[in-house]
Amino acid sequence: MRIVDWADESDGGPAVVLIDQRALPHRTVHLHLRTVDDLIDAVRSLAVRGAPSLGITGAYGVALAAHRHGTTSPDAVDAVRADAERIATARPTAVPLSLGVRRALTALDGGPAAVLAEARAVAAEAAAVHAAATDRAADEILRLCPGRPLRALTVCNTGPLATGAVGTALGAIVGLHERGALAEVLACETRPLLQGARLTVWELARAGVPHRLCVDSAGPAAIANGLVDVVLAGADRIAANGDVANKIGTYMLACAAARSGIPFVIVAPEETIDPRTPTGADIVVEERGADEVREHAGTLMTVPGTPVYNPAFDVTPADLVTAIVTESRAWAPSPAPSASVPRTAPAPR
Ligand code: MRU
Repeated sequence: MRIVDWADESDGGPAVVLIDQRALPHRTVHLHLRTVDDLIDAVRSLAVRGAPSLGITGAYGVALAAHRHGTTSPDAVDAVRADAERIATARPTAVPLSLGVRRALTALDGGPAAVLAEARAVAAEAAAVHAAATDRAADEILRLCPGRPLRALTVCNTGPLATGAVGTALGAIVGLHERGALAEVLACETRPLLQGARLTVWELARAGVPHRLCVDSAGPAAIANGLVDVVLAGADRIAANGDVANKIGTYMLACAAARSGIPFVIVAPEETIDPRTPTGADIVVEERGADEVREHAGTLMTVPGTPVYNPAFDVTPADLVTAIVTESRAWAPSPAPSASVPRTAPAPR
């Protein structure tokens, strides 16, 4: 099952084909996107989501633009570049989206087929990178929490749907399960769009990983009550100083982990670390529409017209992060994650 792919369809021409993540877990629906406008709609509406999957989608989006406009005249090239810019800025926080777009644009001189080949390379490389990062993360977690079956807590969705491949944080969790080192995963439901409840639980069930679902606000309580050995999350953008933007709700888990002295580990491809973003204060956090919070499954849950604060992400300061694990390193961005906090988990209660 490819999460994002390319198809040359005899009836409708080239298309970016992707699983509509809005329909999961109840239905598996594939979208066949034949225009850049449709692709941008899919990105904005979270039909496709998760930082690495957005990178792959961005690269295929440029291939779609190159096939639509051609690349033989200056006007055509300008049109492809304009579409590429619209794709790259469709969502502001996740760094791989613009990287995938830029990477595909490097092949523009070679024509549409070369752009498509570059997009396919982005997808293939992502798979190898994520596999290396998740292996390293599993090793690192076993080092931090030795000698017992682990109880992990995670937020949002960081598995194949979010990455187009094995996953990041969820890939490491599945890896720990395959090594026989995992007792249970607590998955936070991830309000308001329920990526944890709808997507992570679906992926954990398919992988046969023991899990329970909890409301987001139960995450810190579970940590405080000794039910969690390690918190694992992905990242949408990591500032050069190690501050981490990830799904809203991540920061409270990092605070709780520091308070209880358990490791808080980020798993992400190295490209997520953005040298052009010095600190978390420089990260643009996407604010999403009010109805995502006011409504649930189309039913109004509050007073009509209630003003809403709906940031899609929060920023966890580097000093709360035990380790950022990528395909090439395990980086402790701050020498002391929290002055009084040990780096290894305490013995289970
Ligand atoms: O708004 P989303 O669903 O795109 O947010 C996704 C996340 O926050 C993920 O945790 C992040 O992209 C890491 S994915 C490997």
